[in-house]
Amino acid sequence: MTVRIAPSILSANFTRLGDDVREAVQAGVEMIHVDVMDGHFVPNITVGPLVVEALKPLAKELGFLLDVHLMIEHPERYIDDFIRAGADLLTVHVETCPHLHRVIQQIHAGGVKAGVTLNPATPLTTLEEILADVDLVLIMSVNPGFGGQSYIPRSTLKIANLKHMLNEHGLSQVEIEADGGISPTTAGEVVKAGATILVAGSAVFNSKASISDNIKALELAIAQVKV
Ligand code: DX5
Ligand code: ZN
Repeated sequence: MTVRIAPSILSANFTRLGDDVREAVQAGVEMIHVDVMDGHFVPNITVGPLVVEALKPLAKELGFLLDVHLMIEHPERYIDDFIRAGADLLTVHVETCPHLHRVIQQIHAGGVKAGVTLNPATPLTTLEEILADVDLVLIMSVNPGFGGQSYIPRSTLKIANLKHMLNEHGLSQVEIEADGGISPTTAGEVVKAGATILVAGSAVFNSKASISDNIKALELAIAQVKV
């Protein structure tokens, strides 16, 4: 499976969001990650369906996917709004869904791809009964809530164990996404472990270099793994 970078707009400049996204897509990314936080499940508050809706025309024009990560309690209340707004992929936390199977069905009924995600302290065993029903598993490699945190080293083993679990279940088509602390320094090990989508916020949208140079640096780190 090819490895894709999904820049997280959490670290973008919101006064020029469209331009930042355009620059990232023109540098070659096919996916934009939108972090939705409610101030309850996580300590931070970010954006809702309005921002997904605002990005949708650009997504259609440039041909990128909107990857929406819901860090909210009762996600089932908002899933239809995000689908109407134009999400292509919706990911929910197992910690927020006592009726996870129903929530995944709700997402699929709306015609979009469904992902599940785990906080760093939540074990992979919580996925066993749902793995066959999802398109993607996102491994949080920081505690959700903020951009710019350090990668939690144990996440690499968790990704490798998940890859093994998927292979054992004959589910190698399920993608593994890594989210949090991904940089040119950590990208290599998560790809080696089996991640095929790498979310990167501060490593893409920082002022140290241009967005396209930051994406190139990540791509270089990923390419070195394959050699
Ligand atoms: C954290 C979010 C991440 C965040 C990653 O709760 O889910 O998507 O934007 O930011 P970086 O790449 O800066 O760790
Ligand atoms: Zn995220």
